[in-house]
Amino acid sequence: MSEHDTLIAAAKQARENAHAPYSNFRVGAALRARSGRVYTGANIENATYGLTICAERVAIFKAISEGERGFDGIAVVTHTELLTPPCGACRQLIWEFCGDVEVILANLAGKTAVHRMAELFPHPFDSSFL
Ligand code: THU
Repeated sequence: MSEHDTLIAAAKQARENAHAPYSNFRVGAALRARSGRVYTGANIENATYGLTICAERVAIFKAISEGERGFDGIAVVTHTELLTPPCGACRQLIWEFCGDVEVILANLAGKTAVHRMAELFPHPFDSSFL
């Protein structure tokens, strides 16, 4: 299995734990740390809607809160034909903690695409401006 395939498989597995009764749009994410560890996340919705958190941010917060730093890729898996890119809020967080990493998109049918964060999130606001 390639490194991308391993990350996609982890995101697909994580997606099984999504709590998405409102949108029925289940998302899985997997974040690869340079240490070799993989942190996964699934979207967690809430009856207030606004407190919903995306799969990508769950994976990032799990990793950061466990002391992990330095990442080299994140995979996002949904069921849709059109692959799902990270939302704007997640792009800001991915940039903060991962910088210009590979973003691997995949669906359950095996369709994949690979982007880089610099392409998905041009001219970001970050610590370099502070
Ligand atoms: N969602 C994610 O988890 N990640 C994305 O990249 C896009 C959107 C979630 C949030 C919400 O639970 C559902 O998908 C529909 O927007």
